[in-house]
Amino acid sequence: MGTYESDRYEDVVAALADPALVPEPVPPVAGAVDGAAGGTMAWLRATVARFCAGEPHARRRALVEGELARLAPEAVRRAARARGGCGADDEDVRVTAVAALAACLGYADPEGVARAVTVVAGGYFGGDGPDPAGDEAVRWLLPRVGGDAELAANRIGILVQACDATAALVAHAARGRRAGETVEELLARTLREDPPLRVMRRRAVAATRVGGTEIVPGDTVVLRTAEAAPPSVTLAFGAAPRRCPGEPHALALATGILETRPLGRPGTGCPAPNPRPATAPCPPAQSPAPLKPPGEPEGAPQGRGELRERPPRTGGLRRTDRGSPWSDPSAGSGEVEGTW
Ligand code: HEM
Repeated sequence: MGTYESDRYEDVVAALADPALVPEPVPPVAGAVDGAAGGTMAWLRATVARFCAGEPHARRRALVEGELARLAPEAVRRAARARGGCGADDEDVRVTAVAALAACLGYADPEGVARAVTVVAGGYFGGDGPDPAGDEAVRWLLPRVGGDAELAANRIGILVQACDATAALVAHAARGRRAGETVEELLARTLREDPPLRVMRRRAVAATRVGGTEIVPGDTVVLRTAEAAPPSVTLAFGAAPRRCPGEPHALALATGILETRPLGRPGTGCPAPNPRPATAPCPPAQSPAPLKPPGEPEGAPQGRGELRERPPRTGGLRRTDRGSPWSDPSAGSGEVEGTW
C-alpha cells in the first residue's frame, strides 16, 4: 500500500469530498453500530461521527448538528470569557473551553465533565493499547451527557473534538498576537497563517484518482491543508462533507478566552474579575459569519493581518512512502499540532 501526499488545493478539496477516501477507520466494536450501550474508548471511537463514513456518518453527523443547534455561539463566547482564567500560566485552556460548552449544553458539573473529556481526548485519535483511564472517563461521562448510546457517544464526541483543537487555536493566536488587532482579526489571521491543524489524512476504501494519480484500496493520502489553502481561504476546519460543524463554536470559545488576555503579555494580568458563569442552557443559535469556506478562493482576505509568505507548493500528488511524511517536523506528529 502506498502513501501519497499533496499540497495542491484542488487535490485536497477533491480528496476530502471523495467517498472512496475516508478518515482512518477504527476497529469495529460489537454493538457500536446498532446503538447498544458501550463504555470504552474503543466503543466511543466506533460510535462517533468522526471516524465513520457513509450512512452511519450521515446519521451521526445529523445528531451532532442537532446538538450544536442548541448552542448559540454568542452565549458560548460569554461562557468561555466568564471562565477564562485571565491567561494564568496554569490555566488549562482545554478545561476552560470544554466546561464552557458543557455549561451551555446544560450538563451538571461542567468542570468535572471537562476534566474527564481531557482524559478521553488523550486516546481519542488512537493510542497504544488499552486505556483504562480513558475507559473509566467514558463510563463516567455517559450518564452525565445522557441520551441513547449513539447520541451519548456523539455528545461526548462533540466535547472531545472541541478540547485540544480549540486550545491549540488559542495558543497559536496568543503567540502571534499583534497590537491594534481585534480578537476576530487575530483568529482569522491565525487560521490562515498558523492554523492548529496543518495536515489531514485519508485512507482509500475503493479505487479512485487524486490529481490524476491512481489510488488503490488501502493507500493513504496525506493532505497538506495549511500549505494548500489559497491566501483568502482556511482549510483549518476541513472541507465538505465533513467540514467541522463546530467552527462557529470554536471561534466563539477562542474569542471568549482571548478576550480575558491582555495584549502582549499572555500569562499575566487579568483585566476583569472572573465570575463563575451561569449554567443556564443557551438560547437558540445565531451563528456569526463563518470564515471563508473552501471552494471560494477569490475575494479579500479576512482581517487586516499580513499574510506570511508560504513555502512553495510542490505541484500535486506525489508518492512519499519511501520517506515517511510523519518524520517531517513541519507536519508535527500530534492530532492537532499538525496531523489529522
Ligand atoms: C479550532 C478548533 C477546531 C478545529 C481546528 C477543528 C477542526 C476540525 C476538522 C478539520 C474536522 C474534520 C475532520 C475530518 O474531516 O477528518 C472537524 C470535525 C469535527 N469537529 Fe471540529 N474543530 C475545532 C473545534 C471544534 C469544536 C469547538 C467542536 C464542537 C463544538 C467541533 C466538533 C467537531 C465534530 C463533531 C467533528 C466531526 C464531524 C464529522 O465527522 O462529520 N470542533 N473539526
